[in-house]
Amino acid sequence: MTSEALENLLHEERHFEPSAEFAAQANGTAALYDAAAADRLAFWDTQARELISWDAPWSEVLDWTNAPFAQWFVDGTLNVAYNCVDRHVEAGYGDQVAIYWEGEPEGESRAITYADLQAEVNQAAHALESLGVRHGDRVAIYLPMIPEAAVAMLACARIGAVHSVVFGGFSSEALRSRIEDAEASVVITSDGGYRRGKASALKPAVDDALDAGAESVRHVLVVRRTGQDVAWVEGRDLWWHEVVGQQSTEHTYTAHDSEHPLFILYTSGTTGKPKGIKHTTGGYLTQCAYTHRNVFDLKPDTDVYWCTADVGWVTGHSYIVYGPLANRATQVMYEGTPDTPHKGRLWEIVQKYGVTIFYTAPTLIRTMMKWGADIPAGYDLSSLRLLGSVGEPINPEAWMWYREHVGHNSCPIVDTWWQTETGAIMISPLPGVTSTKPGSAQRPLPGISADVVDDLAQSVPDGGGGYLVLTEPWPAMLRTIWGDDQRFVETYWSRFEGLYFAGDGAKKDEDGDIWLLGRVDDVMNVSGHRISTTEVESALVSHPIVAEAAVVGASDEMTGQGIVAFVILRGDAHEGADTVKELRDHVAKEIGPIAKPRQIMIVAELPKTRSGKIMRRLLRDVAENREVGDVTTLADSSVMDLIKTGLSGDGD
Ligand code: WTA
Repeated sequence: MTSEALENLLHEERHFEPSAEFAAQANGTAALYDAAAADRLAFWDTQARELISWDAPWSEVLDWTNAPFAQWFVDGTLNVAYNCVDRHVEAGYGDQVAIYWEGEPEGESRAITYADLQAEVNQAAHALESLGVRHGDRVAIYLPMIPEAAVAMLACARIGAVHSVVFGGFSSEALRSRIEDAEASVVITSDGGYRRGKASALKPAVDDALDAGAESVRHVLVVRRTGQDVAWVEGRDLWWHEVVGQQSTEHTYTAHDSEHPLFILYTSGTTGKPKGIKHTTGGYLTQCAYTHRNVFDLKPDTDVYWCTADVGWVTGHSYIVYGPLANRATQVMYEGTPDTPHKGRLWEIVQKYGVTIFYTAPTLIRTMMKWGADIPAGYDLSSLRLLGSVGEPINPEAWMWYREHVGHNSCPIVDTWWQTETGAIMISPLPGVTSTKPGSAQRPLPGISADVVDDLAQSVPDGGGGYLVLTEPWPAMLRTIWGDDQRFVETYWSRFEGLYFAGDGAKKDEDGDIWLLGRVDDVMNVSGHRISTTEVESALVSHPIVAEAAVVGASDEMTGQGIVAFVILRGDAHEGADTVKELRDHVAKEIGPIAKPRQIMIVAELPKTRSGKIMRRLLRDVAENREVGDVTTLADSSVMDLIKTGLSGDGD
């Protein structure tokens, strides 16, 4: 962002007060801020008691004596699946629809009630037990957006197995490394799924991952989704409908410790190796339920909620599975892409189910803007009453477009800042209280403490900029990086003494509202997906013709950032007509199509300091077509001229 754009942004004059009508019925009121400010831990104690059913109470809300290793609701026990499913059936809501599932091929849909969900989760829990999965064992889930993804996660939670969901768009290589790091004993996958009007295969990626390693895996449970042919390893591979379908629909749960691990979710860090973010049970579920209820103002008897994320990301974990189901929401789950079979598909679904709450990412909003306002105008969106945004900074233009063309100028918009590591929403307006501003996530939620600090960890005054930090522990916080406590401490707790370093730059405006400005580390944000520059560099140098690679995130109007790679070929390699394509495909194979560079430039040199460090800042200047900045610290200042004049190779 240019400094001029930043200045404009910080003088945002537009404010939108909640309507009196909305405020009068809102779940979240100003009293929440007062209660949390008066006694933060008592506040969380109340949330945990009111929103969650416990089997045994806790002896202490928070144990922070071994900081930064937290324990929340110490000694409390509960079962997450019971909280998300059974208790609603017991309370007489068995016939309420939990999930309206909409397949990508039109006309394929399912309405799954809470009673149906209970039966399926129980069967799946038995099935996992029959495969030898025990409390604490890890299960990898690699599925498209089908109801079995939620069922599989809840079945793991029910028996205390730790799930590790791997986004279905990741490659077999990415899957293998995640399975190996978590030492999963079972993989749940499907034959394939529907995407952009075609059946695509998923199981072959699992086969490849297991051929290449992942030796901990004993069984692969395969959901039949498309009916396509699949290769089969007898004894190892089992059909979901055969193993799960034959089980009893009754299952007696046991309660798990509040700190028992619920899941691991891998996310990109600043090194090539993804971090397995570990989340636990009681605190995570409490904050998911609390934020889902108050930020989205959920009314379980009347709302139809829809979060467009994939369950492979944290947003899908917290705001498709755990938060909404704990709160007895009725929600939509959609398998496919927004433009299949036509660009109005999402609005058609909103109209079909009378969706009232809609949660999506800025990239999607910007894409919709490009497609034109006449598309949403062709559908009845009057059921919508609240809109949410997540994953990347939302530019004020996109915010205003969302409000006008989707939210008929009356829906409050909640811009929610959080991360895989935070587990749940941290900074967001409360829709019945906050006067919203286009582009700003504004204030930490009641019970959450955040600040913007300078290099010396000093809080910046209003109007100042720096780094976003979280100043107090929170219930849904990550507990560690799976198998790597030291990396956990170094990554998040060492930059500033006693503060959690989020890795995001931020500013406080004159009112003290927080504006997120993007990552300050080597993590890129492409369409709301986190990808590290080092991860893509490692993928590139694993190709035999590549000697060296440097990757930067260049600003991109549609996707937030785009991946631009600078590559030096080995001495004996020659650039052919297909070299760039070959390298892009290689990255897709190593990581997944989302990591394919937008552009690859084959260069003879890379700009380095005298100590050999690549100066990405200069490469970013080139990638963004800017005048190249200060080159005085370069070991060889002529390198940049060489790069600029010798550029060749381009994206597709
Ligand atoms: C970015 C997604 C600005 C941020 C839930 C963060 C945001 C990273 C916002 C986490 C927002 C997320 N405004 N930036 N409302 N929400 N981010 O782990 O850079 O996939 O650090 O979690 O996304 O991405 P993650």
